Amino acid sequence: MTTGACTLASSRAVLVHDAAMEPFMDPAEQYAMFATDARDSPCFSEWAAAVARDEEVLAWLATLPPIKQQPNLVFAAARWHGVPAPGPYDALRSALLDDDGTIRETILSRSTQTNEAGRMATLLPAITSLGLEGPISLLEVGASAGLCLYPDRWGYAWRTEAGEVRLGGEPRLTCAVRGALPPLPDRLPEVAWRGGLDLNPGDVTDEDAMAWLENLVWPEQDERRERLRHAIAIARAEPPRLVRGDLLSDLPDLLEVAAGQGPVVVFHSAVVAYLEPEGRERFHDLMTGLVADGACHWVSNEGKGVLPRITETGPPVPEGHPTFVTGVDGRAVAWTHGHGRSLRWVAGS
Ligand SMILES: C[S@@+](CC[C@H](N)C(=O)[O-])C[C@H]1O[C@@H](n2cnc3c(N)ncnc32)[C@H](O)[C@@H]1O
Repeated sequence: MTTGACTLASSRAVLVHDAAMEPFMDPAEQYAMFATDARDSPCFSEWAAAVARDEEVLAWLATLPPIKQQPNLVFAAARWHGVPAPGPYDALRSALLDDDGTIRETILSRSTQTNEAGRMATLLPAITSLGLEGPISLLEVGASAGLCLYPDRWGYAWRTEAGEVRLGGEPRLTCAVRGALPPLPDRLPEVAWRGGLDLNPGDVTDEDAMAWLENLVWPEQDERRERLRHAIAIARAEPPRLVRGDLLSDLPDLLEVAAGQGPVVVFHSAVVAYLEPEGRERFHDLMTGLVADGACHWVSNEGKGVLPRITETGPPVPEGHPTFVTGVDGRAVAWTHGHGRSLRWVAGS
């Protein structure tokens, strides 16, 4: 298994440089990059930097399947079993090295399904750029619990260089807009239908599943925890239609259902990184075909190296800049913060 992990890692390291959203890299490299990418969380950043230098912990990680070695998952599992975060690295280290199988079992049985409603602040300008009239159908692939399917139920505050642009009421999703003004909507979208597809759809009525989602929020980020609770309450009031399935094989059936309700926008964020490189290419081709057939529009939001054919349509991303790239129908329109906190509109630049 270790050999397999190294082989996978070396073939993928050339494709991506975004540890926060690249679950297949060599662990030492993945943790070292995560230490930079996770600077929003001093605790996780410090833990990741320490793991990257810790041969014993790296050896422990190497006994896990490659997809399960991700910092986000390992740290979340340790917290789930009582490791304090924020807290000292030594507590994490001993919990992993002395684990009686409890943490390992959580790592193996759960996954990083982080569902970040804040991403809607960066997705909505991309949807707006499509210029669709009237109510739309929103279909999210890799929806987790579907918490990003409610852009019409939040307010927004885009902090542009010319001042704050507000839409809707409280609570607001805030987003710093850098550079050119993106197409910001002047009214909330009308959503005729909302639904999603996920390998493991989250059930907003399941307390344990929602507690795990909360546990995935980085330690110091109380604001994100607060937002998550509100997003769960919104979805509980009107649960989305979530279907268990694989985005490579099960999208067309759900698309047919959505198409009866209005122009369909298929979107995804922080999902395609979980596919092998060949699957990423197949998904890109699938979506390109659906868009060309007029079956839907496509809004993508992934780490910069995940869908390189989209990233390449925009300006070159500076080396070492850990950004997501948002695409519309296969073309890069924005560089975005992975949790939706900021946005740089790059379409046409
Ligand atoms: C990090 S979460 C992102 C959730 C949501 N898109 C968001 O932005 O908050 C990734 C989700 O993708 C799902 N996923 C991964 N591979 C998938 C596949 N092949 N088909 C469908 N869903 C998949 C996972 O189960 C997980 O719920």
